[in-house]
Amino acid sequence: MNRRAAPEYLVSLDVGTSKVAALIGEVVPGGQVRVIGLGSAPSRGLKKGVVVNIEATVDSIRRAVEAAELMANCRVRAAHVSITGTHIKSLNSVGVVPIKSREISTRDVEAVIEAASALAIPADEQTLHVVPQEFVVDGQEGIHDPVGMNAVRLEAKVHVVLGKLSAAQNLYKCVERCGLTVEKLVLQHLASSDAVLSPDERELGVAVVDIGGGTSDIAVYKGGSIRHTAVVPIAGDLVTSDVAVGFRTPGQYAERIKLEYGCALPEMVQNDPGIEVPGIGETPPRKLSRHMLAEVMRPRYEELFRYVRKELHRADVYDLIAGGVVLTGGVAQTPGILELAEEVLEVGVRLGLPHQVEGLEEVTRSPAYAAGVGLLLFARQQRPSAGGSRGAAAGLRHWMGRMQSWWKGHF
Ligand SMILES: Nc1ncnc2c1ncn2[C@@H]1O[C@H](COP(=O)(O)OP(=O)(O)OP(=O)(O)O)[C@@H](O)[C@H]1O
Ligand SMILES: [Mg+2]
Repeated sequence: MNRRAAPEYLVSLDVGTSKVAALIGEVVPGGQVRVIGLGSAPSRGLKKGVVVNIEATVDSIRRAVEAAELMANCRVRAAHVSITGTHIKSLNSVGVVPIKSREISTRDVEAVIEAASALAIPADEQTLHVVPQEFVVDGQEGIHDPVGMNAVRLEAKVHVVLGKLSAAQNLYKCVERCGLTVEKLVLQHLASSDAVLSPDERELGVAVVDIGGGTSDIAVYKGGSIRHTAVVPIAGDLVTSDVAVGFRTPGQYAERIKLEYGCALPEMVQNDPGIEVPGIGETPPRKLSRHMLAEVMRPRYEELFRYVRKELHRADVYDLIAGGVVLTGGVAQTPGILELAEEVLEVGVRLGLPHQVEGLEEVTRSPAYAAGVGLLLFARQQRPSAGGSRGAAAGLRHWMGRMQSWWKGHF
């Protein structure tokens, strides 16, 4: 087949613990992103969000990209790629510069962000993101675009995300072995948040929890800016292991049973005709109930939400999330999970589906593709010609893009 080679396409590669998802999108008149290609391959080379087997990861990426290319009938050369893992750390930092010429210039903004990101970082870690939260101009807080303002002092508040250098380098290596260039590495939860949040929620205060196979990733917003990010090592794979142990069945059956009959709240199970559970080795299959399955699953999800709640309190952001919690990622599809999350977190909880995109329903209706869609939105934002949104958020994103380019140059 004669495929189009089209540099104008947006390409995302969400390299997760359960699946590698490649998405190809295009920008339609009006600035919307339309998803035109999807390739998803089981992920075999990652543990808790981090590459542990190069060959297996390369194979999964290759298969996902080929399937997406086939669907979109094009060839891709570069992609925005997600990164997560418990090696990720985040903190808020502040920088200050004097304004000599009395009017704030682009260079002053660059200088103040650089000052805010000047941290003593261990040799094996690297800055992944420096996300400006807000600027303070002569004591006036809450300014998103200070260029052109008169002032004598400019302060920047930024959110800094750090990650292990080796984890990022291994991801680069895997993608490049597939003949693709990494346009940018983007923190998975920043990407998911872009896909599922509304500007109102970001303003009011909200926490996104992307629950995948290996990790659950938290991002907290308030006043339109990111305030906190964290990675929790409890997610869907642990629930599958609990089902395997609790029902004494091999892992692949446990996963299938969990997907088909699973529920996070035993009291929500109504229709319970029983599940035939294959045994281990020579053990004959047994008939167990959906209620029992939910009782095996609930404690792990409860543990996860208690952990999330503790983390929100530890980071002193629990009181910021008046807009509640948005659950996304594959696990967010589990029946009863929203209700359980509400019970434990004691805030309103909703399901986060990727919005702001059109095209393949398989993508737009599944929380498992939130990160992939967010990466596409990220890619669009960094192409001014593609009609990205304007205003404060776009301004901040612009700086973020600049800082990421700076980081990329350090490889
Ligand atoms: N329909 C569903 N109902 C319940 N759970 C589901 C469903 N679909 C997928 N899952 C679970 O979601 C998890 C995978 O989610 P997702 O695809 O978001 O993970 P990932 O992005 O590959 O992993 P990670 O983000 O942790 O690196 C698995 O544990 C899987 O069992
Ligand atoms: Mg994920």
